[in-house]
Amino acid sequence: MSFSNITALAPMVRVGTLPMRLLALDFGADLVYCEELIDIKMVQCRRVVNEVLQTVDFVAPDERVMFRTCEKEKDRVVFQMGTADPQRALQVGRLVEKDVAAVDVNMGCPKEYSTKGGMGAALLSDPDKIEAILMKLVTGVSVPVTCKIRILPSLQETIQLVQRIEKTGVAAVAVHGRFKEERPRNPVHCDYIQAVAQAVSIPIIANGGSLDLVKSHSDIDEFKKATGTSSVMLARAAMWNASVFSSQGTIPVDKVMEEYLKYAIRYENHAFNTKYCLCQMLRDRVESPLGKQVQAAQTNAEISEAFGLQEFYQQTHKELQARRERLQTSSGP
Ligand code: FNR
Repeated sequence: MSFSNITALAPMVRVGTLPMRLLALDFGADLVYCEELIDIKMVQCRRVVNEVLQTVDFVAPDERVMFRTCEKEKDRVVFQMGTADPQRALQVGRLVEKDVAAVDVNMGCPKEYSTKGGMGAALLSDPDKIEAILMKLVTGVSVPVTCKIRILPSLQETIQLVQRIEKTGVAAVAVHGRFKEERPRNPVHCDYIQAVAQAVSIPIIANGGSLDLVKSHSDIDEFKKATGTSSVMLARAAMWNASVFSSQGTIPVDKVMEEYLKYAIRYENHAFNTKYCLCQMLRDRVESPLGKQVQAAQTNAEISEAFGLQEFYQQTHKELQARRERLQTSSGP
């Protein structure tokens, strides 16, 4: 698999679950990153083949599905982990390697839940740890390894870090062109991304352009030019309207929400997660009648009513139920 000339769905906590990833692929994304999943939680999971949904589920001891994936995304899904421990990172990498296209380490998240354990952006000030984690993964798993960083206070430090990362054998580095302290509304530093891309020979995936640079598919090329990269990763622009990946142009978000919901129904996505993602797409319409209906809904069935998809829900539910019963009969005594 290649990390050059690609457009990727960025890792996003709560947003990057299976329905959103499949939607992004349908619209033309080449790679889709899952939400950051924390190593300590993942190592407790067991791998379960879900014959009804035709998915592979990584299930926690409390029966929560932490990561659900399927054949359709197998060659294109990148598993992002939060880790500060090489051995645990390897354990997670080995657990998922059969089912994903690559594994990625989050080194850019500035949120407390990530940095408090020395994970995410906290790693940026511990290059020895970065090296240890990446080398362990590169030598220990059978799929390509990547990482996602933020930029450091000076250009020289940023370049030195990425050159050190390159030596570990990673396949690519995604660079979010903001400093650790910067907020998502601050402008992205394309000059840093460009200088990094020139300083190494592995692909650099430019990230951070959603707010002011990338509004539609045609802006992706501009972002590539501004950063001197051939690959781009989009978070917010894709969360607001996943058809940003479509070379045929964006489509109205109401249609995107419908397609999203169909995947959420088909893959029995947790209703709270479905609601959360739809609310991100509704943006300033969350208080509209549709928004209120979505917020009040407790199940995917109720959410489907808000979008007039009751029939699709019922039909899909019936099909899944029939498959469930068939499987129970065939595996019976
Ligand atoms: C993020 N981001 C993020 N980054 C990461 O490495 N792992 C993660 O799990 C998350 N989670 C997450 C959730 C949500 C809701 C948002 C909006 C963002 C950061 C994201 O991947 C990206 O680096 C930034 O949003 C900048 O890119 P855009 O939004 O300008 O394209």
